[in-house]
Amino acid sequence: MGRNKHIKYEVVKKLSNVVITEIYDDRIIDFEKCWDKETYKDRNVVLELGCGDGEYSLNMAKKNPYKIFVGVDMRSNRLCVGAIKAIENNLTNIVFLRTLIERLGDFFHNHSVSEIWIPFPDPHATKKNRNKRLTSMRFLELYKQILKPGGIIRLITDNTGLYEFSLESITDDDAEIHVHTDNLYHSSVTSEDVLSVKSRYEKKFLPVEKTIKYLEFSYP
Ligand SMILES: C[S@@+](CC[C@H](N)C(=O)[O-])C[C@H]1O[C@@H](n2cnc3c(N)ncnc32)[C@H](O)[C@@H]1O
Repeated sequence: MGRNKHIKYEVVKKLSNVVITEIYDDRIIDFEKCWDKETYKDRNVVLELGCGDGEYSLNMAKKNPYKIFVGVDMRSNRLCVGAIKAIENNLTNIVFLRTLIERLGDFFHNHSVSEIWIPFPDPHATKKNRNKRLTSMRFLELYKQILKPGGIIRLITDNTGLYEFSLESITDDDAEIHVHTDNLYHSSVTSEDVLSVKSRYEKKFLPVEKTIKYLEFSYP
């Protein structure tokens, strides 16, 4: 671990809005204990998978104070940035979880999550890595386990290969596809949350001329 990363790890461990697990430990944390049950009773829980520095979740949390947002990433140095901003902005409806997405089932009760956002995940372009893609079958099974029936999954990507792979996976898996577009900003999508909230990756790293692909689907 580099020096800077080590320092951030030490910082993030002390933040009240971060649950940090050693990546390979087998502790199971009841994640619902991390928010005030009374205040958030019956509120929808929304996950952002691979949230990086959490910019997307932070903006969503500001716009949707009645929902609880959970940013999940395996890199504590990235989470740290979002967690500190959330504290500075007095955002109490957002928490961060440092773990592998593969372990989500250890933290969330079955059928307890309302929405899963996957903005700009790593595309894992080679065939040998296809089961690391966040829309491969093993991840779809996990999402079905923790999502409420009808809970929405949203994928946003600039990667054509990942978009086509995902469309094929969810079609094979009999998902109900609500929206699929290979050009989000020239599509019939009107949702403010989808169009106006942008992740750091989209804002900072994408050239303007790149087309953004979007998939929105659910399972009964
Ligand atoms: C390309 S970045 C996108 C970050 C953010 N969603 C955005 O749009 O700005 C992908 C993020 O996913 C995280 N990630 C990739 N695979 C993961 C896994 N299996 N478990 C947890 N985090 C993962 C990486 O650490 C990285 O921060």
